[in-house]
Amino acid sequence: MKSIYDCYTLSNDVQIPCLGYGTYKAAADESAAVICLAIEAGYRYFDTASFYGTEKYLGEAIQESGISREEFFITSKVWKTEMGYEETKAAFARTVENLGTDYLDLYLIHWPLPTPDYKDWKTLDIETWRAMEELYKEGKVRAIGLSNFLPHHIENLLENCEIAPMADQLEYHPGYTQEAAVQYCKEHDICVQGWSPIGRGRMFGDKLFLELTEKYQVSPAQLCLKFAIQNGVIPLPKSSTMERMKQNQDLFGFEISKEDMFRLRTMPQAGWSGEHPDRERVY
Ligand SMILES: NC(=O)c1ccc[n+]([C@@H]2O[C@H](COP(=O)([O-])OP(=O)(O)OC[C@H]3O[C@@H](n4cnc5c(N)ncnc54)[C@H](OP(=O)(O)O)[C@@H]3O)[C@@H](O)[C@H]2O)c1
Repeated sequence: MKSIYDCYTLSNDVQIPCLGYGTYKAAADESAAVICLAIEAGYRYFDTASFYGTEKYLGEAIQESGISREEFFITSKVWKTEMGYEETKAAFARTVENLGTDYLDLYLIHWPLPTPDYKDWKTLDIETWRAMEELYKEGKVRAIGLSNFLPHHIENLLENCEIAPMADQLEYHPGYTQEAAVQYCKEHDICVQGWSPIGRGRMFGDKLFLELTEKYQVSPAQLCLKFAIQNGVIPLPKSSTMERMKQNQDLFGFEISKEDMFRLRTMPQAGWSGEHPDRERVY
């Protein structure tokens, strides 16, 4: 990858850019200003979700930019309370209305379980996925996928679906690389996107970080983002200032050595959000 516009090819041949902008809390001031700035900074791949409350601001920002819809890659997600066949269809209709568009580039199931103790999650996932498959077949979404699905959740779908998921969005950063899930996805041609790719800054003081940012003369955020890209994972950083937005795209003038990549992949767990689909949130 040589720029944020270079793409991976999903299993259905759709092109997906190698870095996107995450919109969670990107409209905390209830305005589209930060997302407008992100478009100005050059981002075209935007990650949103019905849960974030940012869909309508992303829609406004795209409208204001005057740039055609086709130049953007837009992902949104079905929230925990919107799962099920009919509910997912209705959720999709709300999402595209909020965004002011008539299609999504990628639509994901946000979490495999509404709550960790939800008993019949396998049936609920299959029903939700059936709606996703129909939206795909109707041409309303260019690709469909998952988020926070671990191998045992994905197996349930693969055993029962008609169309295999094309993507899975997982928490991913040095200190929390979910190796088993990432490897499973790679073996099944499921593209991995990394959420909280900067770990919201929680690993920045780690001594390996201090050593490597000095060695490569980059910021901790740049180290994290390049780490994801070199592992074939699409990072989705969120930032609020033009300087950080630009910095988070300036990743192609250095290469992390193989040895340092292994050191980052095997550092002790750090920066975990505390979220796991099968457990109550830890913190
Ligand atoms: N699928 C899921 O369940 C899920 C869950 C969480 C997140 N996500 C997605 O992933 C996206 C990113 O995750 P995230 O927002 O949790 O975390 P993140 O991108 O890892 O971190 C964002 C934080 O890092 C700061 N930051 C950004 N660039 C920086 C830089 N160059 N130097 C120093 N600090 C920097 C930001 O500050 P400023 O904003 O002040 O610049 C913000 O506080 C979300 O927006 C969302 O789209 C998905």
